[in-house]
Parts: sequence; structure tokens; C-alpha cells
Amino acid sequence: MTNGNVAAEREKVFIFDTTLRDGEQSPGASMNMQEKFRLAQQLVKLQVDVIEAGFPVASVGDFDCVKNIADNITGVQVAALARANQKDIDTAWEALKKGDNPRIHTFLATSDIHLQHKLRMSREQMLELAVASVRHAAKYTANVEFSAEDASRSDLDFVCRVFEAVIAAGATTVNFPDTTGYALPDEFGAKIAYLMENTANIHKAVVSVHCHNDLGLAVANSLAAIKAGARQVEATINGLGERAGNTAMEEVVMALRTRADQINVRTDIVTEYIHASSRMVSSITGIMVQPNKAIVGANAFAHESGIHQDGMLKERTTYEIMNPCDIGLTSGNLVLGKHSGRHALKERVKTLGYDNLTDEELNRVFHRFKGLADVKKEMFDEDLEAILLDEIVRIPETYQLLSLGAMSGNKTMPTSAVKLLVEGKEVQDAGLGVGPIDSAFRTIAKLTGTTSKLLYFAVSSITGGTDAQGEVMVRVEDEGKIVIGQGADPDIITASAKAYLNALNRLVYLKKERISKG
Ligand code: KIV
Ligand code: ZN
Repeated sequence: MTNGNVAAEREKVFIFDTTLRDGEQSPGASMNMQEKFRLAQQLVKLQVDVIEAGFPVASVGDFDCVKNIADNITGVQVAALARANQKDIDTAWEALKKGDNPRIHTFLATSDIHLQHKLRMSREQMLELAVASVRHAAKYTANVEFSAEDASRSDLDFVCRVFEAVIAAGATTVNFPDTTGYALPDEFGAKIAYLMENTANIHKAVVSVHCHNDLGLAVANSLAAIKAGARQVEATINGLGERAGNTAMEEVVMALRTRADQINVRTDIVTEYIHASSRMVSSITGIMVQPNKAIVGANAFAHESGIHQDGMLKERTTYEIMNPCDIGLTSGNLVLGKHSGRHALKERVKTLGYDNLTDEELNRVFHRFKGLADVKKEMFDEDLEAILLDEIVRIPETYQLLSLGAMSGNKTMPTSAVKLLVEGKEVQDAGLGVGPIDSAFRTIAKLTGTTSKLLYFAVSSITGGTDAQGEVMVRVEDEGKIVIGQGADPDIITASAKAYLNALNRLVYLKKERISKG
């Protein structure tokens, strides 16, 4: 779809997606099993080469998510993370074993800082443990990755020794992480070049990099590494991840595609799915990208100044180095109207990444779509995405909104009347607040008996115009667990109530999950 014949001749850079593992380590980004599975399906459509699905030994929930993906997703390598010990590796394998060419990804730090202060072991002990772990993993699968954690701050000759030994022990990919996001591009590229020159058997493995973004250089460092010979990049959608995040996959992929004149490599990523994937990650995690974010920010292809607009009208390439269509951006185009039929909807839904909906799911989406199209003049992809997320990537609804009436104004005491279905039983109440949203939230809190605390509330408009849908995101905390909730509706008070209830439903779901897993 994206790459022509010339591209096929270029050397390939493998894309290892770690949105579900390192991305999920981003504070507040936890995803449930269903959400992870949905995202994994989307990653397959994007044609990533490897999906790192989780860290199975970390929790029963993580184990189950990895197993679910390995058991049911085909056409991609599924990887699982394991520290360098037998228990982690055995657990990773147990979760992965039914997958297509599954990969065990084991790691151990090589830097003196980590060896002395965290691991309390000598370099020789580290080397021995790394080799033993890779050997153990290689008994299960021929697809073993070894990561030298904090490699960029390690003695480079020592990393070369470790890589040589682990490759001899069976590692087929060796990964050089910039764990703390400390490296600078020239320096990082030079380190990879040194590694390629000074590790005797390096040609027997794929050299990978994994960059964090603490100095905002993760993408630049990854590109420098590719120039120096690295052929796998570990990345996440939207750059999600610990602290300042990981390498943003969409940025690396589009940089390689746009500047193939400078870096003569290709990826297999179907770039037309980038926009939908970015939206899906934002919606699932509740972590939105900033408007000026490269490639997927709302303004990434917006031209505000008159001079730019004039240039664009005369010739798009005056101010645009990429075609928005290449990332699947159709925003601004009216996609469907109220007279559109089920078939047209099904086709549109497919392009947004939801191509295996059941008839029942499609019916639900169609019903919601028609309802919205009746009150909203124009329907855009973003409207449809909001419905899909609500209807498809949904969690069980312990609390369901049946009706909401709100009264407000500059001379009125804001009041809300709320009717909910709580586990099959109708309950209702009314209450006051400082504004209509506050009164709705207070009434919902009373009806559900929640003890949670609202940490964050944000409302935005999905598309332009006063008839646009309002999209609300809330972050709610209960007993140390933080969840997000989302809701969309042309009425922002209803959207807010939906978002709040979505968060409360997630809390109930989390509690039930924890109880059932002991
Ligand atoms: O940042 C890091 O070093 C990691 C490793 C586990 C690859 O995430
Ligand atoms: Zn990392």
C-alpha cells in the first residue's frame, strides 16, 4: 500500500512495537485485556514486525494479556519481556508458547551504575548470567532478544563482549537501549557504529535500539542508529512510555519514508493506519497527544497563516512535506451522512481499523450513528471513532446512564436529575452543584455510592461547529488505582456524565478482575 518497487529494494528496518509493554508503563496508561487485544489487532494491520505484549511475570493480569494475544493473533511475532532469570523466562514462555514465532526478550543491565547500585554484581557475574539466561531462553525458541539495559551509559567494549557472548549463546536480536534518554544523536550513532565494528559475530544478529525521550531525542537517536547500521527500532504509538516516553513509531516511520533520499531503508508499516492507531491509543489510555505533535497532532497538517494557505492552494508541496492521506488523515472531509447505509458504514469503519466487527457490533454502531446523524448535520471520522470506542472497546457497564436532565443559567441554581441502571435496577435522584456538570457528578456519586476522587476533567470538541460532539476525559482515583473515563455526545453535560460513569465502570471492572485473580 505504501511502498513501491524502489522501496522493496531498500534494506528493511524491523519495527518492534512496545506500546503494550513499555507504553503501558506510562503513569495512568494501564489497559485492560480487551483493550490490549484490540490494539494488538490494530498493530497487525499496521504491519509491525514484533508486538511486545507485556511482562508476564509482573502480574497474573499481564500474563493473561500476553497469552491472549499470543494464542489468538497471527501474522506477527509476539514478544514478552523477562528479566535474566529462569522463573521470568519460563513464565514468559508459558504465556507465549502458542504464538507465531514467539520471541523471548530478556534483559540485564550492563552499566556500572546499575551493576553497582541496583544489581550489586560484577561485570563478570553479569556476563555469566546474561549468557545463561539467553541459553535458557534459546531452549524454548530460536527467537531470542537480549537487551543490555542502560547500554548507552555502559562501557562500550564491555557491551561488545556481552553481545558477542549472548549471540554465541543463541540471541538473534541484540538491543542497545538508551534507558535514561541520555544520549545525543551523533554520539549514539557512533556507539552503534563502534558496536558493529567491534563485535566479532554481530552479523549473526539484528542490532536493535530502544530510546527513551528524556531529552526529546528518542527519534533522532533512533535515526542516527539506523544510519549506523541498526536494523530494528523499538517504539510506541504516540511515543507513549515511562517518564518522557519512548521513540514515537509514527515519527520514525514517516521520517524514514519522507527522507529515504538520506537514509536508504524501508519499513513495512502501512502508514495509512497511523492516524487511526494514534487515536485508538489516545482513546484507550486517555493520554491525548499535544496539538503540535509531529505527524499525529491535531495541527500537524493545519495551515493557519495566510501566506501558507495561499502557497498550499497554489501547490500543496510548498508547505507540506508529507501528504496527510499517507497517514490516513481524512479529517475535514465529510465522510458519511444521515442517509448513508449499513454497507457504507461498514466500509468506513474498516478504514478506521475496525474490520472484524460482528453483525451485532455493527448493528449497535449503526444504531448510534443514525441517532447522532439525526441531530448533527455533518459526520466526520472523529465522530465515528468516538462511537466505535464507546460501543466496541467497551468494558462491562455496571452503571448505565438512562437519562439526564440539567438546568443551568446565570440566575438559576444548577440542578441535575439523573436516572441510572445499576446492575439491572433503575435508580434516580436529583441534586445541586456549582454548575450543571458539578451537579450531575454529585448526583451520580450519590447514586453509585462511589468513594473515588475526581483528579482531572477535560472537555474538547471532536470536530468544529457548534453542533460538534463534546469529548470529555476524566481521571478518577480510588484506593490508589487511577483510571480514565471517556464520553462523547453533542450535549457536553451528557458527555461528562458518560465519561464519569465510564471511569466508575472501569474501577468496578478492575476490582472484579483483582478479586477473581486473587
Ligand atoms: O528502557 C529499557 O532499557 C527497557 C528494556 C527492558 C529494553 O525498557
Ligand atoms: Zn524502555
